[in-house]
Amino acid sequence: MVSYKDLGLVNSRELFKKAIAGKYAVPAFNFNNMEQMQAIIQACVETKSPVILQVSSGARKYANQTLLRYMAQGAFEYSKELGFPVPIVLHLDHGDSFELCKSCIEYGFSSVMIDGSAHPYDENVALTKKVVEYAHQHDVTVEGELGVLAGIEDEVSHETHSYTRPEEVEDFVSKTGVDSLAISIGTSHGAYKFKPEQCTRDENGRLVPPPLRFDILAEIEKRIPGFPIVLHGSSSVPQQYVDMINEYGGKLEAAVGIPEEQLREAAKSAVCKINIDSDGRLAMTAMIRKVFHDKPAEFDPRKYLGPARDELKKLYMHKIVNVLGSDGKAL
Ligand code: G3H
Ligand code: 13P
Ligand code: ZN
Repeated sequence: MVSYKDLGLVNSRELFKKAIAGKYAVPAFNFNNMEQMQAIIQACVETKSPVILQVSSGARKYANQTLLRYMAQGAFEYSKELGFPVPIVLHLDHGDSFELCKSCIEYGFSSVMIDGSAHPYDENVALTKKVVEYAHQHDVTVEGELGVLAGIEDEVSHETHSYTRPEEVEDFVSKTGVDSLAISIGTSHGAYKFKPEQCTRDENGRLVPPPLRFDILAEIEKRIPGFPIVLHGSSSVPQQYVDMINEYGGKLEAAVGIPEEQLREAAKSAVCKINIDSDGRLAMTAMIRKVFHDKPAEFDPRKYLGPARDELKKLYMHKIVNVLGSDGKAL
């Protein structure tokens, strides 16, 4: 058993308290490899932002649990070396069992999500409570979820949203003891968040998705004032990356995300953690495709992963400064 405290990491409790009071959200960026981790830390050090390094179960299998523990420790040491040690949370994204959450805690995670949202309500409560009881013995914070996002979560895909029911949140929070709650108000995972027929078109013919359900968010906040709320599926699917990918041989059709202004709005409320994964994937893929197109003779991975990493850093800095508002909040 290794404690996250020995790795230089923190749990999310204090970060969320400050984020709600300061009307911003802490970025939760998914990572699987060294370049993503470097880009995240460089962006957070330069903007002085706290950060949640987020690992899905698929990412954990991909990267290896032992390597991840050292990468997270390395992330903190790296931030110090870059001149500004930022608060770093190592968080399990969409944990689906008690055993997985327990194992992550034993390998140095400071925060876990137990996603029981696909289960019937009572089972979600029981599973979440069991994880909270174990996690809190180790001062690890826990995120639960109520409501189901449309889109794909690991191998599970849901055709439609089932919005969080505000009348359940008080009971869920008090019965489980969770530290934060992920809700469903119209965001969804991946680069295809809405079908074209669910969208309208702007003057340039671009797809405009239906707005987030701020009314449900307000109702939830009324029932659990000041309680930390999490938004999953919050990539905006930047058009310039979609265009670049398509221009350089890719094939992304009708990809559409959540407008950044709506996320900025949400970050000013009790939403204190915003999850972004797909936008990073798009930025890396766009740049790698461009290098392959522009320099077809290149075969040194550093020559395409390096520019991809730089683009990723730019994207993260933009999110921190212009969308989440977490710049300067690591002080
Ligand atoms: O919510 C899902 C995250 O984007 C993680 O995706 O399971 O493909 O690693 P993944
Ligand atoms: P995106 O697919 O919108 O980036 O969402 C990521 C996420 O919610 C990770 O849990
Ligand atoms: Zn998610």
